[in-house]
Amino acid sequence: MFRPNILLARAIFPEAVAKLRQHFDVEENPEDAEHGFEALSARLKGKQGLLCTAGEPITAALLDAHPQLKAVCLMTVGYNNVDVPACTARGVLATNAPGVLTETTADLGFALMMATARRMSEAERFLRSGQWTKWRYDLLTGSDVHGATLGILGMGRIGQAIARRGAFGFGMKVIYHNRSRLPESDETPLGARYVDKATLLRESDHLVLVLPYSASSRHAIGAAELAQMKPTATLTNVARGGIVDDAALAVALRERRIAAAGLDVFEGEPAVHPALLELPNVVLLPHIGSATEATRRAMVGCAVDNLVAALTGGVPPTPVNPEVLPLRLG
Ligand code: DGY
Repeated sequence: MFRPNILLARAIFPEAVAKLRQHFDVEENPEDAEHGFEALSARLKGKQGLLCTAGEPITAALLDAHPQLKAVCLMTVGYNNVDVPACTARGVLATNAPGVLTETTADLGFALMMATARRMSEAERFLRSGQWTKWRYDLLTGSDVHGATLGILGMGRIGQAIARRGAFGFGMKVIYHNRSRLPESDETPLGARYVDKATLLRESDHLVLVLPYSASSRHAIGAAELAQMKPTATLTNVARGGIVDDAALAVALRERRIAAAGLDVFEGEPAVHPALLELPNVVLLPHIGSATEATRRAMVGCAVDNLVAALTGGVPPTPVNPEVLPLRLG
């Protein structure tokens, strides 16, 4: 019986590898080395399936070099690294891991927004460096989260989960902007108000970015947008690097055109714009939005389920391009 070959682009949990070995011959990457096009392409030779992250560029050129490849399964929800039309045109199934990380990422997004508003990283650095000598009326004063206006750009699953935390837990007024307005049945319980982008920028006390990355969302927040925000406002990005123009943000933070920022993602990460590293009023995290043990296991599990189904005649649970399924099954 034909036993498919698969490539694990990066390291994953050992029990997930064991599950894949029940069905496939598996080439692993236990050192978790990152491979550029040439090395990735060399490793993909003769593989029918690829399990990867949002870090490996899945391009038309890569697909053309590997016509035997049938499925590319991501352990992340974001798939802006995958040329989906190129996959579809070649009958390659692409899958992602939606749903399983929504609440965990919303927890981190809300926590980062709070840490930013209440200057928690700055306060800890102050304490650790021995500068804390007395209580003082204006020591490290930040801005309130409860009762403030929470602005959300990108009201998908994660955006709505952050809105719930704000509305129900902290009595925040929720405003949002999105490609399409939510149905009234979703807006009403949150008391959420749909506004245009200019109003969102103008009225938000705490603006959280949760929109997917695409060519059109690149630098959706740049100098012009930052200039429209309140000087007391905070900006939090848990979506993707590149949605914010990091250089423009560093200028706005240095000149106190906005109060503070919380960033979990960066353009060109893991490199961080050097100007951001110099500033006190920005909380910087190394892309840990979905990083809990349980959620990372669920994300990998989702990719494994998709890959097993895709290559053994099953129905993959979360396809990105379901239109290739009839071709594949037919
Ligand atoms: C995703 O799933 O796209 C996240 O950015 C990874 O945490």
